[in-house]
Amino acid sequence: MARKKITVVGAGNVGATTAHIAAGKDLGDVVLIDIIAGFGEGKALDMSESGGVFAFAGSVTGSTDWEAAKDSDIVIITSGLPRKPGMSRDDLLARNVAIVKSVSAHVAQNCPDAFVIIVCNPLDAMVHTAAKVTGFAKNKVMGMAGALDSARFAYFISDELGVSVGDISGVLMGGHGDTMVPLPRYTSVAGIPLTELMAEEKIDELVERARKGGIEIVNLLGYSAYYAPAAGAVKMAEAILKDKKCVMSCCAYCDSEYKIGGAFVGVPVVLGGAGIEKIIELDLNDNERNALKESVDHVKQLVAKVDEMI
Ligand code: 2OP
Repeated sequence: MARKKITVVGAGNVGATTAHIAAGKDLGDVVLIDIIAGFGEGKALDMSESGGVFAFAGSVTGSTDWEAAKDSDIVIITSGLPRKPGMSRDDLLARNVAIVKSVSAHVAQNCPDAFVIIVCNPLDAMVHTAAKVTGFAKNKVMGMAGALDSARFAYFISDELGVSVGDISGVLMGGHGDTMVPLPRYTSVAGIPLTELMAEEKIDELVERARKGGIEIVNLLGYSAYYAPAAGAVKMAEAILKDKKCVMSCCAYCDSEYKIGGAFVGVPVVLGGAGIEKIIELDLNDNERNALKESVDHVKQLVAKVDEMI
């Protein structure tokens, strides 16, 4: 059986970490594309040299030439400017629309059958950009945010309760930004509802910390997070490549679902060999529904700006 081919666009912190985790998990041959000559090649060589330690079988190569990405099974787009202190994800819109537009045209030309996972910000608007420019089917273009945001929420819960993070299943919806909608009612610890294990005020505090999880890291480092975002992107790629039918939140196209009316936003989905195989519709209460609507409205405002640019 031929190995799968995973192209990661952008050899910066998120891209390089994504490529290294994907190689370490032996997901296939990894190609690292970057516009700076030597950058993708150098990082790929360094990663290849770690292969003897990790004992992975796939190759890692770097290039500036899209020919190297030809016929990839998955393309993970991480290229784009990251945030600096004082910036919101939305502040990146114009610069990153231009980058994602150009990358997506290369993807459409060189990898017409690929699944596309977007990681750059503002996430939901970048997924819209990639879907519009590639013209790919809606089940094949998606964004990595829910995997990261729910992992952050799970970590904060595990730290507070002193329990294994692997036992926590966090559910979030909405856009990847300050309006995201963590759902404590649907979050559980080994099947026990979070609401039975933690006081409401503490849950509210952790919800707020999850919403601001990205900026917390930016304020510490001076630039954006990359270990957890990369881990989230690889989790999605693995779900698709191994047809795992994982239930997780990710940015997917919704129309009648949740009455969203045609937008890419975070929702719980089944992710497998056909990409977004199903959107799971939860029975939201009034507060949750209103919070989701507010978040979707915000995403739609950004998308309207994107449509003026491309
Ligand atoms: C984050 O939340 C980079 O948006 C990403 O850290």
